[in-house]
Amino acid sequence: MLLGVNIDHIAVLREARRVADPDPLDALSICKRAGADQITIHLREDRRHIHDSDARDIIRLSALPVNLECATAEEMIAIACELQPHRVTLVPEKRQEVTTEGGLAVTGSQPRLTHAIQQLQAHEIEVSLFIDPTAEAIEASKALGVEWIELHTGRYANLYAMLYGNLAKTHHSIPKLALPRATLKAQLHEEIATLTTQATHAKVLGLRVAAGHGLTTHNLPAIVAIEAIEELNIGQSIIARSIYTGLEQAIHDFKAVLIR
Ligand code: PXP
Repeated sequence: MLLGVNIDHIAVLREARRVADPDPLDALSICKRAGADQITIHLREDRRHIHDSDARDIIRLSALPVNLECATAEEMIAIACELQPHRVTLVPEKRQEVTTEGGLAVTGSQPRLTHAIQQLQAHEIEVSLFIDPTAEAIEASKALGVEWIELHTGRYANLYAMLYGNLAKTHHSIPKLALPRATLKAQLHEEIATLTTQATHAKVLGLRVAAGHGLTTHNLPAIVAIEAIEELNIGQSIIARSIYTGLEQAIHDFKAVLIR
């Protein structure tokens, strides 16, 4: 299974002090040496972590393919077309969110999204849509003519954390353990079944399937077992682990869990 390492969180640490280090550019050769398959970065409209100059340098210098996540706003698509990453993953963005909270709206009339996809493809950039695991979103993505979808695993990760992580008791971004454990377990199994069914549905339609959000070495095995998923994009948990193990070892640890 392919691993895209999302290096935004290196820039998050840099921005905490608005200084020059750690520099996400320094991660490129380590990711490659550790066996990562792709570098993923999110150039947010508010530039809260990755800056334009980071994106430019990373895309220019990376020996691995770069997957640039961005919103469908005209400004962002113009930047993507100019920088020419290997792939652009279109994501929804809300200014106040801590991280990307849900999938992109793809059903119904979506003139801005359609235009963004056309512009990117005209520049020979692969396009992926970050969507919730629903049949409607997958069929709409197929109709939009993209090559990839990335399934949002945030609900799965939250349910897992509520059930098995003490984060559920302490962290504001994770819903409290409001339901009985048996109900949460049933919901977790339902979510795994949904991700399996929808990933398979997308693959049968001819889409390539990635997944990501909130994945850790603990919650990964059920996702790795989904045959139709080819690639995972993982950020927070790899960079968090790297503080203690170093980035190269952290990537090795994740790669070991990805072996099928
Ligand atoms: N994939 C997409 C589309 C994302 O927006 C993010 C978060 O930036 C990730 C994957 C990685 O999520 P995490 O940092 O929780 O591993």
